[in-house]
Amino acid sequence: MTTRLMMRALRVAQFGGPEVLKVEANIQMPVPSSSQVLVEVKAAGLNPVDTYIRTGTYAVKPTLPYIPGSDAAGIVKEVGDQVTKFKPGDRVFVLKAVTGGCAEFTLGEESFVGYLPETLSFQQGAGIGIPYFTAYRALCIKGRDKVKSSNTVLIHGASGAVGLACVQIAVSKGMKVIGTAGSPEGLELVRKEGATSVFNHREKGYMEKILESTGGNGPDLIIEMLANVNLDADMQIVNKYGIIVIVGNRGQIEVNPRLLMGKDSTVTGMILMNATQEEWSEMHSGITDGLKAGWIKPTICTEYDLNNAPKAHEEIINNSGALGKRVFVI
Ligand SMILES: NC(=O)c1ccc[n+]([C@@H]2O[C@H](COP(=O)([O-])OP(=O)(O)OC[C@H]3O[C@@H](n4cnc5c(N)ncnc54)[C@H](OP(=O)(O)O)[C@@H]3O)[C@@H](O)[C@H]2O)c1
Repeated sequence: MTTRLMMRALRVAQFGGPEVLKVEANIQMPVPSSSQVLVEVKAAGLNPVDTYIRTGTYAVKPTLPYIPGSDAAGIVKEVGDQVTKFKPGDRVFVLKAVTGGCAEFTLGEESFVGYLPETLSFQQGAGIGIPYFTAYRALCIKGRDKVKSSNTVLIHGASGAVGLACVQIAVSKGMKVIGTAGSPEGLELVRKEGATSVFNHREKGYMEKILESTGGNGPDLIIEMLANVNLDADMQIVNKYGIIVIVGNRGQIEVNPRLLMGKDSTVTGMILMNATQEEWSEMHSGITDGLKAGWIKPTICTEYDLNNAPKAHEEIINNSGALGKRVFVI
């Protein structure tokens, strides 16, 4: 019988506040099945959803105890006997990490692992998973009809991890990109990533200014990070036949459906994990192209040690003035 080594990982033994996140040193290293890749994790991505899952009130409720984290990047250590794409030593990023990303080792299904170019750090690799796949699905799948160079997209909340990914993808498609942020540094970053114009979503009257900047027509596509605050205003300024894609929402809002009727506009929601197999393939191929071409470049704002996980979970939910992605360095 083979003896497996032990590893260090972040673990949640009961659902609750950030204090339930504990680092443990004696967790058995996972063993890859025939379709899986064992990855030595160098960095793991932190996403808002990790905090929702930790509370135990989210739709996805893992069996306790569990290791948090969907996204990771590192080096392939071992591969299952059916794995053909990867070999030990490859630099990779992992999405939907099977045994949790916040650990010294994790497992990825071959179809949810991708090559990480030498030009990107492991921290940047850990910023690819949920943010870029979400951004790709929101823009290029949910907003597909509007993704053309003659059109304008509003990334409403462009300074965070998903928002910046949306900006890079929309720029790569040649769209005119309007981005919003809540701080001068955030506005500067969004502009640096290629947005044509930027507006502060904490400033009174900024939606009217966005409308003016489109010659009064409004954006053809809106990717919305905080629908409970912005949906009604989005419905007011979106162009005729426009599409609003809800990516983020943290509460309720009253809206006037007549706004949709008057413009034949569409509001659609999305959760990445609802993607079909065909959509996963399409996202993977679009993101692989972006990595090869070099326009996928996650911006890392904060690096945490696993011991600081409670602080990291507090900060990702209660932050303002986002500047990209938060990651754990393992
Ligand atoms: N549907 C899905 O499958 C899916 C997948 C991933 C993420 N999400 C959700 O999408 C949201 C963004 O995720 P993330 O990882 O990018 O989080 P993040 O890095 O924390 O970014 C949050 C973004 O929201 C912006 N924001 C704050 N107040 C706003 C306002 N009034 N109007 C517009 N934007 C505002 C922030 O801007 P400032 O800080 O500059 O103000 C920042 O750009 C979260 O709610 C997350 O749960 C959903």
